[in-house]
Amino acid sequence: MSDMNKYSSIPRATTEASAPVRRLEVDELDASRPTVPAAMEYDYTNFYFGAGDDAFALLAPFDDWWSQVQPAGYYLYELPLHSAPGTRVDVKDTKTGEIRRNLVNFASYNYLGLSYRPEVKAAIKEAADIYGGGSSGSPILSGTTELHRAFTEEVAAFKGKEASLVFPTGYSANVGTIAGLMRSGDLIVADQFAHASIVDGMILSKAKSRFFRHNRADDLDRKLAGFAGKKLVIVEGVYSMDGDVPPLAELIEVCKKHGARLMIDEAHSAFVFGPSGKGVAEAQGVDEEIDIHLGTFSKSLGGQGGYVTGSRKLINYLRGFSRSRFFSCALSPVVVAGLRKSLELVQSEPHLRDKLWRNVARMQQLLAERGVPFGESTSQVIPIMIRDDARIFMIGEEIFRDGVFINPVRYPAVGKHKSRFRMSISAAHTDQDLEEGAETIARVLRKYGICQS
Ligand SMILES: Cc1ncc(COP(=O)(O)O)c(C=O)c1O
Repeated sequence: MSDMNKYSSIPRATTEASAPVRRLEVDELDASRPTVPAAMEYDYTNFYFGAGDDAFALLAPFDDWWSQVQPAGYYLYELPLHSAPGTRVDVKDTKTGEIRRNLVNFASYNYLGLSYRPEVKAAIKEAADIYGGGSSGSPILSGTTELHRAFTEEVAAFKGKEASLVFPTGYSANVGTIAGLMRSGDLIVADQFAHASIVDGMILSKAKSRFFRHNRADDLDRKLAGFAGKKLVIVEGVYSMDGDVPPLAELIEVCKKHGARLMIDEAHSAFVFGPSGKGVAEAQGVDEEIDIHLGTFSKSLGGQGGYVTGSRKLINYLRGFSRSRFFSCALSPVVVAGLRKSLELVQSEPHLRDKLWRNVARMQQLLAERGVPFGESTSQVIPIMIRDDARIFMIGEEIFRDGVFINPVRYPAVGKHKSRFRMSISAAHTDQDLEEGAETIARVLRKYGICQS
């Protein structure tokens, strides 16, 4: 512990109130297992503020901390893939230098398995022959190719809206849309689990920011009450760390009561939820009652980029005020060509969505049978709840070495004592992938006393 004294001047982050934590009993632990290095008790937030006048003051303590925690578990981030993000992947273990082959992949967003489809790759190659690698310009200057123009219209048509705008990423779609519309003196109220790109858009807009309790219409009502002025409420279609969906009808009612506009980020739900794949708003029958629909192409379409769609007036306004779009290079035409093909497949192969939901149900069953806790998820994003912030990397290392690629998530990405593995299910997973993956995870969790059976 003496090593950690040098960090003691750095304030610890406050511990957020959390659901009951299942504490490991000493006799449940394998005595031969190495203990967690003390440095693992610290996290990024300990290196955010520091005393002194030197802008580099935190670099040395951070480096010192990182040199201990990186090999102790943080190395599980940014592991380089040596294959496409399919249902089986080859991944470099940067700790040992080995390539671990044929791992069951629950880490990639490729919810419909589209990124590596032969048709998508052929479209990409064809575009590369015509346009080369990049667009070499902002979309409002020289960066818009005919592919971009056509795709922008196809996105609006698919979502059943008048118009759309395409951004370089989902992140920039949120930042550009929120800060493009809202100003200092306005009010933005977002769900407390809103993605970082929504939060960053709120900060950039300089509007007053408030957060309502996750999925609680009554709290949204309280947060909107008494504010006279422009109001925007922001929710997600599927929450990216919990895999649950919002009660849209209730939230819409509250927005109407207060004259607030409603925006939904369907990053994880567009192209997979709803009878035609438009998203959770379609699935809940309230698509037309939401003012701004936003999403990303990096998840279900397996590509890259983001979009906002809605009325022509909204899109025309955002075209002029979304700085993250027009001060940034347009998406590569090669990417757009792949996306166009993926969107075509989403529409011509609705059975992919059926397969995805069958796979989700099967995985839920496999996890439940093995007593693996998976939160409140009702989607293809399934959190495997570990809650043990100190040991999640140790557990993650065993799961990785035993043949499953899945990402650990801990504070500050989720609350303290809410560590989890985020599992992404794809339509492309076979029964064998699901069974083998669930069994491997359960076997390791059993060792740590996390599985109940
Ligand atoms: C809800 C949500 N919005 C936006 C984004 C950002 O999308 P992208 O990765 O395309 O930038 C993400 C990414 O994880 C997300 O989960």
